[in-house]
Amino acid sequence: MDDAEAVIHVETRGGAYDVIVGAGLIDRPKWFPEDTIGADVFVVTNETVGPLYADRLTAALGPRRITTLVLPDGEEHKNLDSFSRIIDAMVEARMHRDATVIGLGGGVIGDMAGFAAACYQRGVAVVQVPTSLLAQVDAAVGGKTGVNHPGGKNLIGAFHQPRAVIADVTVLDTLPEREYRAGLAEVVKYGAGLDAGFFSWIEANAQALTQRDAKALQFAVRRCCEAKAEVVQQDERETGRRALLNLGHTFGHAIEAATGYGSWLHGEAVGAGMVLAGRLSVRLGLLPSADAARLESLLSDFGLPVAPPPISADILLDLMRMDKKVLSGRLRLILMKELGDSFVVADCPEEEVRTVLHAATAG
Ligand SMILES: NC(=O)c1ccc[n+]([C@@H]2O[C@H](COP(=O)([O-])OP(=O)(O)OC[C@H]3O[C@@H](n4cnc5c(N)ncnc54)[C@H](O)[C@@H]3O)[C@@H](O)[C@H]2O)c1
Repeated sequence: MDDAEAVIHVETRGGAYDVIVGAGLIDRPKWFPEDTIGADVFVVTNETVGPLYADRLTAALGPRRITTLVLPDGEEHKNLDSFSRIIDAMVEARMHRDATVIGLGGGVIGDMAGFAAACYQRGVAVVQVPTSLLAQVDAAVGGKTGVNHPGGKNLIGAFHQPRAVIADVTVLDTLPEREYRAGLAEVVKYGAGLDAGFFSWIEANAQALTQRDAKALQFAVRRCCEAKAEVVQQDERETGRRALLNLGHTFGHAIEAATGYGSWLHGEAVGAGMVLAGRLSVRLGLLPSADAARLESLLSDFGLPVAPPPISADILLDLMRMDKKVLSGRLRLILMKELGDSFVVADCPEEEVRTVLHAATAG
């Protein structure tokens, strides 16, 4: 292994694989070996990422039979129509059971490519080449795949672990600024929820991260992938510890739903959601207020919103009750004891949640 790359091994019942994190991986054939990727390759990408990186990926893949499908860009295309388009194109390209699907793009492409791979001929291999920060630190690792339904996000899907994840931090250079910052919220989530040392490291390296310094990014993506790998290995199907990765998410989903999906990016909503989870934790006497203040200040240094939109507390609370992470009607939230130490509270007192929402939204 070159000094520059980190290899994180993930072992689950659904499969064992390596996550490679480094700079310039997408141009290097050595990261696309024959024992991981067969002779028939089906690349799924979109109209934004494809023109930037598909040729480089194809060059690194060398003399294989490669078919590339370019889908329209956007969460609104993460649906069964796009899924059908992938399957149709795979049939047309005569892909067989030994084919390898490669998802080249952000989380939307990764989720759809993974789901198509899970279903095509009852399952073919998928290799994820995530190109957004959110996809590199979260979506590409762990095997959750799927598409949206008009009735809800990610309602249709499957667990299908990838055969490899190739996270090249240099492709993040072209990511739009707002998307990049939203990805940083997910990076902060790992520190705040699981790893105090990492949280302090993010604080100390906030400027380098904001400037997309490759070395800082490589460390951050690697740490997040290690943390996600550890959690996923312990709890592949999210019955326990994996839920901690949802810090800020129940509040965040309510913000996304209340504002109409798309006006707040997911990472932005999760950032504001973590601030609310922090304030609730302080209110319940669980978290020192200084820790909540550090979290808020770091997110704000990253230019992320730290307050929810001015929507009434009751509307947000109703939406929180509808979140699919809510079990049997009880408000189940991830709260913090200190930075880096989060836990599941199965039956959160609604009045306290309402008070925190009310104070934050003044409504
Ligand atoms: N499977 C999981 O465990 C998991 C976890 C978290 C999120 N998700 C899913 O991920 C999706 C969100 O992912 P996302 O934030 O990556 O959104 P996205 O895939 O829509 O990407 C964001 C935007 O950035 C563009 N982009 C991506 N990489 C680029 C690059 N290198 N250069 C220029 N532009 C680039 C995309 O084309 C898109 O316009 C959601 O659908 C969510 O449900 C899945």
